[in-house]
Amino acid sequence: MRNFTTETEPTPVVKPWLDDLLPELIEFRRDLHAHPELSFKEFRTTDKLVERLEAAGLEPRRLEGSGLTVDVGEGPIATALRGDIDALPIIEETGLAFASKNHGVTHACGHDVHTTSMLGIALVLHAMHQESPLGGTVRIIFQPAEETMPGGALSCIEQGVLQGVPRILALHCDPRINVGKIGTRIGAITSASDTIKIELTGRGGHTSRPHLTEDLVFALAQIAVNVPAVLSRRVDVRSGVSVVWGQIAAGSAPNAIPANGYMAGTMRCLDRDAWHSAGELLDDVVQQVAAPYGVDVHLEHTRGVPPVVNSEHETALIEAAARAELGEHAVVLTPQSMGGEDFAWFLADLPGAMMRLGTHTPGGEEYDLHRGDFIVDERALGFAIQVLAAAALRTIRDL
Ligand code: NI
Repeated sequence: MRNFTTETEPTPVVKPWLDDLLPELIEFRRDLHAHPELSFKEFRTTDKLVERLEAAGLEPRRLEGSGLTVDVGEGPIATALRGDIDALPIIEETGLAFASKNHGVTHACGHDVHTTSMLGIALVLHAMHQESPLGGTVRIIFQPAEETMPGGALSCIEQGVLQGVPRILALHCDPRINVGKIGTRIGAITSASDTIKIELTGRGGHTSRPHLTEDLVFALAQIAVNVPAVLSRRVDVRSGVSVVWGQIAAGSAPNAIPANGYMAGTMRCLDRDAWHSAGELLDDVVQQVAAPYGVDVHLEHTRGVPPVVNSEHETALIEAAARAELGEHAVVLTPQSMGGEDFAWFLADLPGAMMRLGTHTPGGEEYDLHRGDFIVDERALGFAIQVLAAAALRTIRDL
């Protein structure tokens, strides 16, 4: 059998700084897990972070409401790192000793791990900086409300968190990847998902005389079939734009054409540019498809988030850091997810990348995100800190 890679021992830079701190961070994460907070209500989480960062001699800046940022090091910002801090309105069913004490709310998406990883990175880099100046600044953003649409990222950006920031990196737990590995991908790794609601009104009447009515049942059917069809010819097919209806309702009698009707669905898209163009086309396409039937059409199109598109350079940066810290085989390819992630807003004008953090115990139970029984392998926390702190150090070196 041929060996395509030469196995070399990892040369971790961050790990020696982390070992003493890790037990405290595990406790910190368990405390967050026991006290999860919903989007824009992460007050206790924010206080805990501020308290710990200040105790280390750092100067965190609180954002309006909840969330914070902290700058570590000195001089120009080399990179920002973002961790989301909110939990979900789901009942926890893990049976863990540190399970949620806030009934009906749980960290079922692993944001407690993201938050604690970012805290660990801040503490490790600060300790390094005190021993010998880093030569640059790493900005860490503890972002509230990732789980809402369109997400807390926008309010962070409005508050200036990206000023002077040349790139941004982030992570997300992935229960399908083994602990000790990270998943990466250049290009889009999440998808856009918008909501579409359409109301139709027209003159109803007897089904024996449709020519005297505006037959909106017929028009609804045309919109259901032809709006997706037209978009598939007007938007780049590689973008995977798909309109799928989840609701359609009109009428109450077999022989009466109703005066109003309703339909709703989602528009998903794998590509950022196509998401913009599909959104701009949508109203026109709906109106034109319905036009021959003379009905009144009102479209409500709610934008979700764009896809997260990982830049080539920043993806390579994370991969190199992961190989150096965790070993040659620490990086696996991750598929694009159809889920949405508001980290995408940070990437509107900046290069950056999000990595997947393996949280699966090899040979152990299979879990999924957004479920009440979601459990992470806690070793993932240390690996996340190693990889992203090492990646941040590399961006300082490149200043
Ligand atoms: Ni999440």
